[in-house]
Amino acid sequence: MLRARFITFEGIEGAGKTTLAQHLAQWLQAQGVPVLLTREPGGSPMGASLRSVLLHATIDPYTELFLFLADRREHTLRVILPALQAGTWVLCDRYADSTLVYQGYGRGLDLALIRQLNAIATSGLTPDLTVLIDLPVELALARANTPTRFEAESRTFHQRIREGYLQEAARAPERFLILDGQAPLAQLLEQVRQALQTWLLREPDAK
Ligand code: TYD
Repeated sequence: MLRARFITFEGIEGAGKTTLAQHLAQWLQAQGVPVLLTREPGGSPMGASLRSVLLHATIDPYTELFLFLADRREHTLRVILPALQAGTWVLCDRYADSTLVYQGYGRGLDLALIRQLNAIATSGLTPDLTVLIDLPVELALARANTPTRFEAESRTFHQRIREGYLQEAARAPERFLILDGQAPLAQLLEQVRQALQTWLLREPDAK
């Protein structure tokens, strides 16, 4: 059987990654691929309570970093790795790149430190594919509809996030697929499907 793949979705708020992840999960399931769609923060049993603190409380940047990492470690050990080991593909809405970009490029914490801590939080798990939806900040913020304290940040904060993602993608081009968030959903979905095709063609049960 084909090895289960780990695919993450990244981008600034309002980029449309959640919708794309949902559609991709449905499409994979229709191809006979077992899929788990999950998200961070809040994908682990403990994470559900961390999520409300992270999204709404005013906290120190390091506290914020540690909470995102704690959420990631629980999520990775209890949800993501067991699913992959059972042969289920995992689609995750935000993962380690979010911490590098938001707490590193956004809040100004040390990138090398975050890379080290992420390596612990993820147990060294790296996505097979990271879909980055890139979009100008103004357009993305106009679309974002769930108010969290991140959305209240300045335009320059979000600009740093956008640029941080593009820099991280340039560091690891072998796993990043950068999509234009202004393109229609059907086109984005098609681009991801094309990127997955070589894997899926090897799947004996795939249609
Ligand atoms: P969420 O409501 O899930 O937003 P979105 O739909 O944009 O994913 O809120 C997650 C927020 O948390 C988002 O603003 C990004 C931020 N975040 C970090 O700052 N660091 C992280 O490691 C993660 C996973 C998320």
